[in-house]
Amino acid sequence: MTDAPPSGSFLDAPRIRVAPPGPNSRRLLDAQKRLETEAVVYSRHFPIAIAEARGSTIEDVDGNRYIDWVAGVSVLNLGHRHPRLEAALAAQSRKVWHALEVPTEARIEFLETLRGMLPGRLRDHARVLFTVTGGDAVETAVNVAEFVTRRHGVIAFSGAYHGVHGGAANLTSGRRYHETTAFHGAQVVRVPFPNPYRPVLGDGSTAATIRYLESLLADPYSGVDEVAAVLVEPILGEGGYVVPPDDFLPALREFCDRHGLLLIVDEIQTGLGRTGRLWCVEHTGVSPDILCIAKTIGGGIPLSMIAYRDDLGRELPAGFHLGTYRANPLALAVGTEVLRMLRDEPILDRVRQRGATLLREFRDIAERHSAIGDVRGKGFMIGLEFVSDPVHRTPWGDRAREMRRQLLHTGVLMHTCGPYDQVLRFMAPLVIEEPLLARGLGLFEQALTVLEGQPAAPAAVRHAPAHPGPEPAAFPGIAPPVHTPHPPPPPGRHLP
Ligand SMILES: Cc1ncc(COP(=O)(O)O)c(C=O)c1O
Repeated sequence: MTDAPPSGSFLDAPRIRVAPPGPNSRRLLDAQKRLETEAVVYSRHFPIAIAEARGSTIEDVDGNRYIDWVAGVSVLNLGHRHPRLEAALAAQSRKVWHALEVPTEARIEFLETLRGMLPGRLRDHARVLFTVTGGDAVETAVNVAEFVTRRHGVIAFSGAYHGVHGGAANLTSGRRYHETTAFHGAQVVRVPFPNPYRPVLGDGSTAATIRYLESLLADPYSGVDEVAAVLVEPILGEGGYVVPPDDFLPALREFCDRHGLLLIVDEIQTGLGRTGRLWCVEHTGVSPDILCIAKTIGGGIPLSMIAYRDDLGRELPAGFHLGTYRANPLALAVGTEVLRMLRDEPILDRVRQRGATLLREFRDIAERHSAIGDVRGKGFMIGLEFVSDPVHRTPWGDRAREMRRQLLHTGVLMHTCGPYDQVLRFMAPLVIEEPLLARGLGLFEQALTVLEGQPAAPAAVRHAPAHPGPEPAAFPGIAPPVHTPHPPPPPGRHLP
């Protein structure tokens, strides 16, 4: 097995000195509760305060050390503060921090590095439009698709998560901004994502999905007027780490070509090595027309962008998309180093090989524990779906959330996803040290065993408010949510 470059983790993790949240964490959590909106979610899921983060580990303010299998929801594919990224950041911090769109060495170096690493036809033939967040990138991608096709409407999938922007351009009064936003009366056509474990259309096959898509365009009474593009995640992220059949993306590409639609691929969570290829589409050879990039590209500093085919045929007017903070030079310097590391180090080989064995190891564990109904994934993007009834595949969000809590207490951080919060996802940094993987796996199975040994708690106990507030409600019908003064977020609204 090829070795990943060391990520500088606390190698003695996990190390639990005081049951979390310890007294110092409580003090900061209480202050947060007093000073910030009650709408925060992550400090409910992970009720600790962070003192320092290194590599694939986090130390809280009470001296506890955790193995981090969340990685900032795939922002930290190279771990926290990788020494090479730290050095790039420090060097750039002595040059320039903010430059609007005026070129800097950092900007051009980044663009040249990215250009040669894009997937398919985009490689060396793409234009880049910078944005700041993932949601910003996705909106911009749809705007570009509608502008160049002169059509409105986009096909998107059930289970998709593309961010929660939208609307700001409508509130801005300039007519010229309304002309270049698709979100001014946008039509979104929603289609079930092919989910082999929970098929909706037919048997969940690609053929059934494409048949449905064809019918939407052919049937004059389908309710669909016109569309410019299809927007897709190669693997559903927040939607539950759902891996579609292998032929899905190629068939979607053909469908788009047949109908003159642009294919927008959102690789915000799947991209930059997460699945063992630099881009998840590279597993299939599919070439997107527009690619959305965010999260890991800035190594933890906000940076996002779209890359679109340079032959799309209609030039974007100056000021097509605006934003004060786009392409921050500090983020760009880190971004170039992220790309170089992924290009030059044997990280992707390791993710493919180790990811395949991890999938087997998780499947072996699932064989021994009926609470896990399905294990799926690619590379270091692995989802474990909890079911209270393996025959009927009843989603068991409560158990996945209890696992997250139990794991936190043993020093492993894992997060949930899926419409009912029923999937625990493994998304460790790609450079995580082997002992931290092995220890984490042992603790994962131990947590499953502990929970199996406990009698099912009444709902009110299962939902006893975690510090500093209650977690999101369970799937209605599985367990009634506890009354809280402020309604909790609806099931499945994971803020990534
Ligand atoms: C696939 C995908 N697209 C878009 C987004 C939105 O990104 P951001 O939170 O930076 O707006 C996310 C966030 O998790 C995501 O996973």
